[in-house]
Amino acid sequence: MIIEYPADLLADVQRRTQGAKLTGFVPGMGADHPRLILIGEAPGREEIKQGHPFVGASGKELTKMVELAGLTRDEVYITSVVRSRPYSIKHVRDRKGQLIEEHPNRTPSQREIKAYGHLFDWELSQVNAPVLVPLGNTSMHRLLGPQAKISELHGKVLHQPIMHLNQQEKYELGDHDYWIIPMYHPAAYLYARRLEDTVRADWIKLGKWLKEQNR
Ligand code: URA
Repeated sequence: MIIEYPADLLADVQRRTQGAKLTGFVPGMGADHPRLILIGEAPGREEIKQGHPFVGASGKELTKMVELAGLTRDEVYITSVVRSRPYSIKHVRDRKGQLIEEHPNRTPSQREIKAYGHLFDWELSQVNAPVLVPLGNTSMHRLLGPQAKISELHGKVLHQPIMHLNQQEKYELGDHDYWIIPMYHPAAYLYARRLEDTVRADWIKLGKWLKEQNR
């Protein structure tokens, strides 16, 4: 399934992100009845090019981890808290010494994450999977609040409500309990290989837990 977002929610995002350094749009996608929802931060350059989530370097790593848990990408649903690529503007010199402009990926701001807030909440309610796997601090903070630390919560099985954006534009805890198993973002350990064993162990543990729970 490729999710189709309601026009009014898309218009709301567009209004709130006018002038922001964001480009493209990648919808969430995956199984109709996914065993879990993987939640990233925002698409990067490769994702925008291909129109699919997690297909760049991080995505390749993520696919391996999903398989370590005994799953395939076809069995899960993948989205992120922001649907466009946040970029910054940098001026650098090329090999010939010419000044050129580059637009590298960056982490979305809190304002951008909030701009996508109602769209993201709607998406979670539609996909309706009982198990959520936030990848890294950005998506984990969106679900659990800013006090949560991925270095403490990675691989842990939590059972609790998640934050949603209310009509007063404030985050508040919902009344429905989800299973939440935070994981390191694949980009984090692509650049910090010392985390690799921990990350592998976390995904294997997730696979065992899913089996035990018959999910
Ligand atoms: N990082 C994310 O959070 N999402 C993607 O789709 C790719 C990289």
